[in-house]
Amino acid sequence: MTHTLIYPVHSAHNTVGHLEIDGCDVVSLARQYGTPLVIYEEKTLRDQCRRFVEAFRLRTAESEIIYASKALPIVALFQLVEEEGLSLDVASGGEYHTALAAGFPTERIFFHGNNKSPWELEYALQHGIGTVVVDSVDEMELLERLLQVRGARQRVLLRITPGIEAHTHEYIQTGQIDSKFGFGLAGGAALESIGRAMGSPSLDLWGLHAHIGSQIFELDSYRGEIRVLADLMREAKDRFGFDCRWLNAGGGLGVRYTPDDSPAPIDSYAEVVCRGVEEEMARVGLPMPRILIEPGRSVVAKAGVTAYTIGTVKQLPGIRTYVSVDGGMSDNIRPMLYGAKYEAMLANKVEQQPDTMVTVAGKHCESSDILARDVELPSPQVGDTLVIPATGAYCYAMASNYNGNLRPAVVMVEDGKARIIVERESFEDLVKRQRPLHG
Ligand code: LLP
Repeated sequence: MTHTLIYPVHSAHNTVGHLEIDGCDVVSLARQYGTPLVIYEEKTLRDQCRRFVEAFRLRTAESEIIYASKALPIVALFQLVEEEGLSLDVASGGEYHTALAAGFPTERIFFHGNNKSPWELEYALQHGIGTVVVDSVDEMELLERLLQVRGARQRVLLRITPGIEAHTHEYIQTGQIDSKFGFGLAGGAALESIGRAMGSPSLDLWGLHAHIGSQIFELDSYRGEIRVLADLMREAKDRFGFDCRWLNAGGGLGVRYTPDDSPAPIDSYAEVVCRGVEEEMARVGLPMPRILIEPGRSVVAKAGVTAYTIGTVKQLPGIRTYVSVDGGMSDNIRPMLYGAKYEAMLANKVEQQPDTMVTVAGKHCESSDILARDVELPSPQVGDTLVIPATGAYCYAMASNYNGNLRPAVVMVEDGKARIIVERESFEDLVKRQRPLHG
């Protein structure tokens, strides 16, 4: 393990020359649970939660850290973040259901999405959703109709598209003007939506939300976002007497996938957001709202690694060496989808010097099923346990059954003990919802 910053905090080399994570030998875990195996270190997860909570608590009177569940929407993690005092953001009926299964307090759940279906909204209302983040006029009307039938009132935030282009991959930029998300500022749509919500008997408008993108390294983008929201708040105060109690600045803080990445520390991010809101509120002459943020990736990425077994090593002299593992795009689509870069290491050879430049390929029927390019490994051989670090966010969450591959098992480790938090899928799972052509 050459670069500790991209591994769970309690990663180490053990006495038999293996990688261990908080006292659990990764080679033994791979043997016990099979591969591909996703391993999370509980302490790193808790540590990240605490850093966020503390960083904001220190800098502003009222804050709420909302874990963006899409990064890893599983019951055990929802329970962990709840224990750490975080709230939860869900982006579908399915994520809401998972939160219910985890026993997550519903008043601390925020429901996002640019096209929540009637049944999803109905399901959320039926089960006491805390806050709906309304994304469009159509949704506002739909929600009002559902609430009228129920004779209920619902706390809502409005999602604003602030017209800020965060410096990140364009697929994960969300705050720019040309976006499917939220109410834009152009033509007064955002302002109008505030007036519309305030006049609604069934909507209880508590504030505004914006999310400018993901894997953001430049904190300036947040400052720009807050400035735009502050101007909107001022305008809405003047026009409609709008009091913004909650201001949700979204998620997006970047993480380190390789040693070349240098994301901002949580403290600097908190400083920019909290100082930003403070200064902007002073500028526009409005009281401080509660500051909400929605980190997903930065809570879970570093805590998770994926272990694979090498099945083939193919040398193409003068070209490259392919090392193929027993997973790939069905458990980590990010390299293919975003050109994401990852490191790799051999958990059973941590003491050996890397000497072979390889391309780590998956097992799927696509040439572009590559997990890592040009990484150096110590004489990789069939049977070695290959580990890719920093796979804790948006890998298991976006896993698929492509080529009939089974979604991996997920284990959580702490103090030398491992426990399954998601079972590996089975062949039976693959076909159980399918019905034969005849009969
Ligand atoms: N809030 C909202 C409304 C979001 O849409 C997102 C992410 C977040 C919070 C959390 O952002 P984070 O802190 O995780 O950056 N699949 C992509 C990432 C898509 C993110 C979508 N929205 C990836 O693998 O990089």
